[in-house]
Amino acid sequence: MTDHLFSPIRIGHLEVPNRIAIAPMCQYSADDGTASDWHLHQWMTYALSGAGMVTFEMTDVERHGRISHGCLGLYSDHNEAAAKRTLDAARRVAQPGTVFGVQLAHAGRKASCRRPWEGGGPLQAGQDPWQTVSASALPFADGWHTPHAMTEDEIHTLIGHFVSSAHRARRAGLDFIELHAAHGYLLHQFISPLSNLRTDRWGGSFENRVRLAVEVTRAIRGEVPELMLGARISVTDWVEGGLTVDEGVQVAQALEEAGAAYICCSSGGNSPHQKIPTGPGYQVHLAEAVKKAVTVPVRAVGIITEPQQAEAIIAEGRADMVALARAILADPRWPWRAAAALGHEIRTAPQFLRASDLHKRWVA
Ligand SMILES: Cc1cc2nc3c(=O)[nH]c(=O)nc-3n(C[C@H](O)[C@H](O)[C@H](O)COP(=O)(O)O)c2cc1C
Repeated sequence: MTDHLFSPIRIGHLEVPNRIAIAPMCQYSADDGTASDWHLHQWMTYALSGAGMVTFEMTDVERHGRISHGCLGLYSDHNEAAAKRTLDAARRVAQPGTVFGVQLAHAGRKASCRRPWEGGGPLQAGQDPWQTVSASALPFADGWHTPHAMTEDEIHTLIGHFVSSAHRARRAGLDFIELHAAHGYLLHQFISPLSNLRTDRWGGSFENRVRLAVEVTRAIRGEVPELMLGARISVTDWVEGGLTVDEGVQVAQALEEAGAAYICCSSGGNSPHQKIPTGPGYQVHLAEAVKKAVTVPVRAVGIITEPQQAEAIIAEGRADMVALARAILADPRWPWRAAAALGHEIRTAPQFLRASDLHKRWVA
């Protein structure tokens, strides 16, 4: 019996039944931002997974904030109605206590791309591309769209889009919002000195570069206090001259001060020159560094695939939660297996009871 991975945790005003989170994963399967039958299948599956915290995919706050034509959004009444319908169905089958959130985002200069299975990379003429925006007019890489550097007015409009999507998330019935300030998307593009060469109050010093993420956090907190709000950050760019771990820790502190109730510690995504030493738990040290500097719960992510590995991260106090992406995409019953492996009884729906011995046998 373990008290760590399967112990409850309070995040903001939410009581989460265990320390396993499903990390946000784009599905590129929406229609003009509207959830499809694919989402219905996936959200219901996640609801039954046994993960205490389900974070739905990067969900864009405006049409041109989408990575691809298939990305999920919360920018229209249609998007909101479908999200509500899909979430209502998921809640009807959910494990008791599961909390559901969406990751709100804008892709900035990494918008207007093909779906990964269409080859990824920028949309070409004839594929309905659009003008992208960013902190500065610097493309992500050679051959990518050159973004338009946002004006002061456009920045204020953007903050309004985040707030409006947060209201839509609340009306759709979600429990929390995760602000996507990682992986080279728009908020990270402002934070990182690699992509932000501005000389106004939105660029230059650390305080200026982090201002947009802070303002968005404050605006959502102030206007939609009913929802718990957390943030995902890239703690480092893994590039010489980019965001360092020291600065990444300061980003976490600034967002905590602005009202973020948890910090998910990821990295990279803002430069094709990044050199990431990937391997099991390769970002856990980043969560550990952030955890020493903030008081809110900290989530570790990145090649956490084994129950004992996840249990040790929590037991050793390196992070307060673990987030799993590919392991749960491949096996949405991962938390059940983890429970069986760690000798913990997980409550599954009664319809599954006659198969519960099989879970124990899977891990034997
Ligand atoms: C299919 C797929 C889609 C992803 N989409 C998102 C996303 O929408 N937002 C995000 O912050 N990270 C996204 N990620 C990154 C994951 O959340 C996670 O940080 C990364 O895959 C490392 O965790 P893992 O080793 O458990 O997969 C995605 C990853 C995958 C595999």
